[in-house]
Amino acid sequence: MNNIVSASILSADMLNLSESIYNIEKSGARWLHFDVMDGVFVKNISFGFPVFEAVSKSTDLFLDVHLMITNPAEYAIKFAKLGADMVTFHAESCDNIESVINGIKSCGAKAGIAIKPSTPVEAVIEYAEIADMILVMTVEPGFGGQKFIMHTVEKIKALREYINHNKLSTDIQVDGGINCDTSKIARKAGANILVAGNYLFKADNMTTAVKSLIS
Ligand code: DX5
Ligand code: ZN
Repeated sequence: MNNIVSASILSADMLNLSESIYNIEKSGARWLHFDVMDGVFVKNISFGFPVFEAVSKSTDLFLDVHLMITNPAEYAIKFAKLGADMVTFHAESCDNIESVINGIKSCGAKAGIAIKPSTPVEAVIEYAEIADMILVMTVEPGFGGQKFIMHTVEKIKALREYINHNKLSTDIQVDGGINCDTSKIARKAGANILVAGNYLFKADNMTTAVKSLIS
């Protein structure tokens, strides 16, 4: 399976974002993870369209947008139109998952669905065929630097079994508390896209840190 590292710029130095993006490009991480928080769906506010537009213009990295907002139906398409390669939204804040997936895809982007640690896989499994990716949050969404929640591993396993059994190519992403140890646990369970923030940006050598997540 193709393992990919998605570097979360939530942990980057906001005053030197272009330098952080350059470091990601050099590190071997192929995706850039962009966390959008509205202060309602999660208890934090991050960044939105103006920052995304600037990031989008400045790099050829695959742009992996993670929406932690109350109304994804209203905003997902705009991120896709602004150049997102993948737009992932939370099942918990969406009444019509299929229509949001179709909307994102109609703009030429890939579509992902995310679930919080307490949301069962049953909430999204029926969409595994039409979504390009399912994101299993391995911490409560909202903040970087938290500890990996171990009970989420069972959900990754169940999803991987379902995807393989049905011969689907849906990616499984994990996000939160990913480091060289938890990445192995998540990969063994079946995840193939690893989001990492603190682990990468606090590392002495980002390239070595990226390698440690996928080898
Ligand atoms: C948390 C965000 C994550 C965050 C991960 O809500 O979705 O993408 O940046 O940060 P770390 O890797 O530090 O747990
Ligand atoms: Zn995220």
